[in-house]
Amino acid sequence: MKHVGTKTIETARLVLRRLELTDAEMMFRNWTGDDKVTRFLRWDAHKTIDDTKSMIQQWINNYPYDSTYYWGIYLKNSEMIGSIGITITSEYDFKGELGYKVGSHWWNQGYASEAAGAVIDYMFRNTDIERIGSFCSVENSASRKVMEKIGMRCEGLLRHYYKTRDGFHDCAFYGIIRKEWA
Ligand SMILES: CC(C)(COP(=O)(O)OP(=O)(O)OC[C@H]1O[C@@H](n2cnc3c(N)ncnc32)[C@H](O)[C@@H]1OP(=O)(O)O)[C@@H](O)C(=O)NCCC(=O)NCCS
Repeated sequence: MKHVGTKTIETARLVLRRLELTDAEMMFRNWTGDDKVTRFLRWDAHKTIDDTKSMIQQWINNYPYDSTYYWGIYLKNSEMIGSIGITITSEYDFKGELGYKVGSHWWNQGYASEAAGAVIDYMFRNTDIERIGSFCSVENSASRKVMEKIGMRCEGLLRHYYKTRDGFHDCAFYGIIRKEWA
């Protein structure tokens, strides 16, 4: 696959850019320490800024690899409100998986959809990715709505596909392929 790595993206209201260690305090305050954000995730809300610092450091270590796609989501006033990324799940199949998080204080203002739409554009425009997929718990209505708003199609449901602190979740699978984006 052709890769370009994590370069800054600007949208009407947001800047998506690489994480930096100096983001740790606002990142912890705004979303990694937010229990509502991690409800459907596999990690617990961070207890201290140091937990957030080590998460940032892992991404910093990965940024030199061009197949790493992980952005912090920032308002134009520089406040960080979440993150978004594409994991390349198969180089052979030219495919990746989208994931995103936004701090609960900023929910339902269209920020995740704005960021996710821009990231999908970035990937189809700048790489030769063929398919971007995503999945979420069927109970995660906001995430399903985001996928629908950015043009992904629901492709099916897998029962007890994913386990979180609440137990097993039936998951809805979504995807978009290059010709639909074009
Ligand atoms: C999923 C998440 C990123 C959405 O972020 P967001 O910035 O609020 O998303 P948007 O505002 O772009 O879109 C959310 C949509 O869901 C809708 N929505 C929210 N809660 C809903 C609910 N309980 N039932 C139905 N729709 C709901 C909103 O109305 C909005 O749709 P609209 O624009 O048509 O009104 C955010 O809720 C989040 O971070 N959740 C925790 C992390 C997570 O679950 N990530 C995804 C893992 S797969």
